[in-house]
Amino acid sequence: MESTERNENNEQELHDDSFYQQIAKTYHGLEELLADEIRELGGTDVLVLNRAVSYSGDDELMYKVNLHSRTALAVLVPIETFKAEDPDDLYEKAMKVEWENYFSCNDSFAIHHSINSDFFTHSQFAALKLKDAIVDRFRKVEGRRPSVDKENPQFRINIHIFKQEVTLSFDSSGEPLFKRGYRQRQSQAPLNEILAAGMIMFSGWKGEKTFIDPMCGSGTLPIEAAMIAMNIPAGWYRRRFGFMNWNNYDERLWNRIKDEAREKILKQPPHLIIGSDILSENIDKCERNAHLIRCNQLKFAVRDFFDFQRPDNEAALVMLNPPYGERLDNEPELENFYKAIGDEFKKKFTGCDAWLISSNMEAIKKIGLKADQKITLYNGPLECKLLHFPLFEGSQKEKQGKVNGN
Ligand SMILES: C[S@@+](CC[C@H](N)C(=O)[O-])C[C@H]1O[C@@H](n2cnc3c(N)ncnc32)[C@H](O)[C@@H]1O
Repeated sequence: MESTERNENNEQELHDDSFYQQIAKTYHGLEELLADEIRELGGTDVLVLNRAVSYSGDDELMYKVNLHSRTALAVLVPIETFKAEDPDDLYEKAMKVEWENYFSCNDSFAIHHSINSDFFTHSQFAALKLKDAIVDRFRKVEGRRPSVDKENPQFRINIHIFKQEVTLSFDSSGEPLFKRGYRQRQSQAPLNEILAAGMIMFSGWKGEKTFIDPMCGSGTLPIEAAMIAMNIPAGWYRRRFGFMNWNNYDERLWNRIKDEAREKILKQPPHLIIGSDILSENIDKCERNAHLIRCNQLKFAVRDFFDFQRPDNEAALVMLNPPYGERLDNEPELENFYKAIGDEFKKKFTGCDAWLISSNMEAIKKIGLKADQKITLYNGPLECKLLHFPLFEGSQKEKQGKVNGN
C-alpha cells in the first residue's frame, strides 16, 4: 500500500518509505492496551484515538498486528482522505481514486462504514455512493465492474466520515479479529474474545498463577487465558486474513512471522487454568472450543460456583462474568446472587485477586467488597464495569477499611 510522507520529527525521518499509516480499530476502553501492543510490536507515531489507534509501520508490522494483537478488531490501511460536502461530492471524489490499481474487476468487494457527521446523516446512503463510484470507475476504465459480496468479499473497503472528513481504507484483516478461529460453539451470552483478552490484560495476568473462571459459559476467558499463558498469538488459528487477497501479499514474510511466533509458543502453561459452569451443556462447548489449543493445564468442570473448591491454597486470579439480568433466561434473583458471590469471595478466595464484569450496577453494590479498580467497558451495547477486588488475608474490615458499597 501507499506510503505516507513523514518528515515532522526525527523518529519519522528514520522511517524508510516502506512505512505508512495504519489504523487498528478496537472497542471502547481497550485503546491504551492496544497502543501498548502496537508499540511492543514495533509501531511508531502511536496515537490513541476513539476506539482506534493510529500508528506507522510497514507490511511486516501490519501482518504482525493482525496475527498477535489480542485487542485489535481490524487493521485498516488508509489510501485516501478528502473533504466531502455531501454524498454527490463524495461520489465525485471517490471516482477519482485509482481503484483499479488495488484490485481488479474479477475480485469481489464490500463496504463497511463508520460515519459520524451531520452532513451524511444516512450512513447506508454514503456507503452506497462509494459503491457506485467504485463500480462506475471500473466501468469507465476497464469496461467491466467487480461484484459486491457482502458475506465473503475478497476486498473490504472501509469508509470513515467524521463531519466532512472522509477516509477510505482497505481492511487488512478481512473477517473481524475477534474471530480467532477456535470457537465452534457459543453459550447464551458469550463474551467477545477481544473483550475477554482485554479483561485479562487489565488484570496483568500472564500465567504466573492459577486462573479460575467459575462461571465460564462457553469458556472464552479460560481459553484466552491459556493462549496468553502459552504465547499463542490471538490469530494463530485463523486461516485467512484480508491482506492475503492483496496483490502485494508476501507469503514468505508471513511464513517467517509465523515461524518466529511458533518458536515462542510454550508446550504448556506453568499453572492451572480452570473453567467451570453450572450447566453441563456449557462445559461441552468449552471442551469443543478449547480442542485446538491442546492444553493439559486447561481444565473444565460442571460445578456450581457455590460448591467451588480451590485446587490448592495458592494465590489465584479469579475472573467472573456472571449473569447481568439482561440477556439470560431464568436469572437467579440477581441482587441476592451478587451478595452471595461476595460472601463466597470472602470465605473461599482469600489471598486471591478477584475480577468481575457486569452491567448491573445495583447488583454490583450488593457484593459487599470495595473495588480498588473500576474500568468502563462495553459488552456489546451494554455499558459494564470491570472491577478488581483484592481479597486480602484476614479481616476484610481491617484490611479494606470499608465493607459495603462501592
Ligand atoms: C454471562 S454467562 C458467561 C459467559 C462466558 N463468559 C462466555 O464467554 O461464554 C454467565 C454464566 O454463569 C453461569 N452460572 C450462573 N449461575 C451459576 C452458578 N451458580 N455456578 C456456576 N455457573 C453459573 C451460567 O450458566 C452462564 O454460563
